[in-house]
Amino acid sequence: MSLGRAPALPPPSPRPRGAILAASITLACAGGALAAQTGEYHPKEETLPAAVAAQPIAFSHRLHVGEAELDCVLCHAGARDEDFALLPAAPTCMTCHVGVKTNSPEVARLAAAAEGGGRIPWVRVYQVPDYVFFSHREHVGKGEACSTCHGPVETRDVLEKEVSTGMNACLDCHRERGAPVHCAACHVLGH
Ligand code: HEC
Ligand code: HEC
Ligand code: HEC
Ligand code: HEC
Ligand code: HEC
Repeated sequence: MSLGRAPALPPPSPRPRGAILAASITLACAGGALAAQTGEYHPKEETLPAAVAAQPIAFSHRLHVGEAELDCVLCHAGARDEDFALLPAAPTCMTCHVGVKTNSPEVARLAAAAEGGGRIPWVRVYQVPDYVFFSHREHVGKGEACSTCHGPVETRDVLEKEVSTGMNACLDCHRERGAPVHCAACHVLGH
């Protein structure tokens, strides 16, 4: 990774606490080498949200992945080769839904979105704060399975956050695999 690389996709909502946290991470990392050695730095446990707000269109991974067996990358174009997996816009869906289930009210909303520019305001499920660097390419390219970090999405009609992406979860696997655990591997320092 290169420190200070700008995210490929701006976060969908501003996170005003980001700057404050970045500053506190800079301070924390001043003693980071010591903390990493002694194990004295204890990141707070992440609390998984019980539920995610309803999606704008009732999309089912069980139907599209479990049954229709579509490849993740058809809809998440960056998931193997980019930092961000990305979320699909209406034209990707309409390649099929111009003809499939056109009588469904959900598909009617999809068609309306396609006419209105194509962007669909999907509610995010997995998201790390903007002071954390994460890249799909670094993980999927090294052979990590989607299900390790996102659960069995192909069996889900509605996605919820079911696997932690908190700092402890990152560090546990990094220790197991011999991946970097120094603060600057995941945190952009100095601003
Ligand atoms: C490769 C083809 C294909 C693509 C691409 C596709 N779908 Fe589908 N979709 C299907 C099929 C097949 C079904 C199941 C139809 C059935 O139940 O008979 C379906 C079902 C649905 C349904 C359920 C409709 C109902 O009321 O039963 C919704 C909603 C839906 N898709 C939304 C989407 C969205 C949103 C996208 C894009 C993110 C998308 N689809 C992309 C093929 C596709
Ligand atoms: C036909 C399109 C389509 C396919 C194929 C697809 N997805 Fe998705 N995915 C979506 C849509 C639409 C959303 C946003 C709505 C939602 O969260 O259910 C989404 C959301 C997600 C999210 C949550 C993203 C967030 O907000 O943080 C994950 C994780 C995910 N998909 C993983 C996968 C994996 C893994 C596969 C392959 C096994 C896959 N998807 C295949 C359309 C698709
Ligand atoms: C090592 C853990 C890990 C693996 C493996 C992984 N993801 Fe993710 N995924 C994450 C994290 C962490 C986020 C939140 C990233 C962020 O906020 O920048 C995320 C976010 C997403 C999102 C939300 C959109 C985005 O661009 O951030 C989608 C969709 C997604 N992942 C799909 C996938 C798919 C498909 C695969 C397999 C090809 C996969 N992920 C493999 C950890 C993982
Ligand atoms: C399931 C195991 C696993 C999980 C979970 C995981 N990682 Fe990783 N991570 C890896 C592996 C393996 C590598 C690649 C090490 C290598 O280059 O061989 C890696 C590499 C990285 C790198 C590149 C480091 C460098 O300097 O080369 C970053 C940054 C990173 N991970 C951030 C994260 C973050 C942030 C999280 C949690 C949101 C996370 N990872 C969760 C396994 C994991
Ligand atoms: C492998 C990736 C990774 C490494 C290495 C890492 N962090 Fe984190 N860190 C994260 C993630 C992910 C979060 C966000 C957790 C969340 O979602 O709330 C985080 C959050 C934080 C936070 C804010 C939340 C809290 O726990 O108070 C601080 C401060 C922090 N890290 C400091 C450090 C320090 C100091 C080090 C070095 C000892 C370090 N981090 C190493 C991934 C990492």
